[in-house]
Amino acid sequence: MQRKWWHGKTAYQIYPKSFCDSNGDGIGDLRGVISKLDYLRELGVEIVWLSPVYPSPMADQGYDISDYYGIDPRFGTMDDMDELIAKARERGISIVMDLVVNHCSDEHEWFRRACEDPDGPYGQFFYIRDWHEGEPLPCNWRSYFGGPCWETLPGHPDKIYFHAFHKKQPDLNWENPKLRREIYKMINWWLDRGLGGFRIDAIINIKKLLPFRDFPADRDDGLCAIQRMLAETEGVNVFLREMADETFCLYDAFSVGEVFNEKTEDLPLIIGDDGYFSSMFDFSEHLLGLDRRGWHLSHLPTAEEYKQAAFAAQARVADIGFLSNIIENHDEPRGVSHYLPQGERSDAAKKLLGGLNFLLRGLPFLYQGQELGMENRTGWTLGEFDDVNTLDQYEVALRAGLTPEQALRAVSLYSRDNARTPFQWDASPGAGFTTGTPWLPLNPNYRELNLAAQRGREGSVYEFYRSLIALRKSGEYGETLVYGETVPWLAEQRNLMAYLRRGERTVLVAGNFQGEPQDMRLPAPLRKLLLNNLETLDADGETLHLAPWQLAVVEVEG
Ligand code: GLC
Repeated sequence: MQRKWWHGKTAYQIYPKSFCDSNGDGIGDLRGVISKLDYLRELGVEIVWLSPVYPSPMADQGYDISDYYGIDPRFGTMDDMDELIAKARERGISIVMDLVVNHCSDEHEWFRRACEDPDGPYGQFFYIRDWHEGEPLPCNWRSYFGGPCWETLPGHPDKIYFHAFHKKQPDLNWENPKLRREIYKMINWWLDRGLGGFRIDAIINIKKLLPFRDFPADRDDGLCAIQRMLAETEGVNVFLREMADETFCLYDAFSVGEVFNEKTEDLPLIIGDDGYFSSMFDFSEHLLGLDRRGWHLSHLPTAEEYKQAAFAAQARVADIGFLSNIIENHDEPRGVSHYLPQGERSDAAKKLLGGLNFLLRGLPFLYQGQELGMENRTGWTLGEFDDVNTLDQYEVALRAGLTPEQALRAVSLYSRDNARTPFQWDASPGAGFTTGTPWLPLNPNYRELNLAAQRGREGSVYEFYRSLIALRKSGEYGETLVYGETVPWLAEQRNLMAYLRRGERTVLVAGNFQGEPQDMRLPAPLRKLLLNNLETLDADGETLHLAPWQLAVVEVEG
């Protein structure tokens, strides 16, 4: 496998709106991020992905972009962005922005011009069709945020346009070479400013099954999940190869795709040595237990399911490339609330989950606050939710016959707002995030769970993450932890998640994923204890006697 500049780094996702507010308006901003660069360096991260900071009406929190060449005044100015890129670079950190090009905002100039003249050149930037009241829609696909994918084109009652997400996010027509050229120009404009690369949003959706057609309905709304169409669509690779050749490859930029529903045979094209992306996120654990019919029918994954999904993902890409490993992001509940059973969210259990994920082969991505063990917010009321997806899922649950209380409970477990509550810097009012009123309510546990309470405290979740990052970067074990193969160990032993990273050396990662002690047979004699989430480790020649939720990282004879 070809070595790449980013392989040995740790990446970190910032959700700017909720990270650090420098001007007291309750909204995080770029100057806030700049003020925390030394913190990020202390933690050890070297790639920072910023969720969107472009001008946006915020129908979907910035994933609806109205100008690809600007910075939303809520977040700051282009000068702030340039300063962030430069100051990050001084600290050895590459800044990666979000690339949202499946769709733009309905307030983007392209869409406004398309509305003015649907038959003109900008009409061809979107999927616009003639339609008259009473006729069937061109297809019955359900948008990700609920309802049909079609909406009346403003000013044209006899025309409709396609949107895979919110109606304020019209899909861009990638079949049009002029549109593609505009996008590549914009990407290169940003790379010229010194960006390290991009995280590429919702990208598999850019290729539509054309001509549009119906699929059998999968709910009683008569619609069908859009994923059904993706499974039948060919040709996304051609667009993405072209995009990479025209942009990222010219700069040796880092790119990580938000890729769902990919076909296994396409993996080498996506993340192989000459793949069109550097890496793609592993969502296989996130998908566990999720029911397409709605969050209210979904179940939380068990430790066994988690382990099997992680090992399957590792095996699937083993010789091909690097996955980006996560336990959470801005679209998911907090990992510790999702993958650890309720009542078991001790620091030890949080470190176990974090360590097991972090040391898998691939690029580790932390999401802001993960390094503190931040949890889902509890006690949500309906009015406190901001996220469009959550509000839609609440309606889905009500329509399925749940009471308002049941529906609220169901969506509270899955809401994307759980990960979007402000970063918990300290115990002051506003959690050190803001001196004003935060745009989304804080998690009330910030008074105990915050950075100030953990920084420099031996045994804290934060210090554990720092050790993980340092270990993966160390001269002695870095090579093995970055490039070594992942070999599951005793994969059939219940609630044990253990694997070897075998390279120059052999490192065993052993986690007792349960609240009971458990013995584990060693694959080879112990050499050295590298990391432990508890104070002691009980081992004899052949066995590790793991305490509840214990995670041990040890070198064994290779
Ligand atoms: C991606 C983003 C998500 C957004 C969606 C539409 O899934 O991560 O936050 O809502 O794309 O852009």
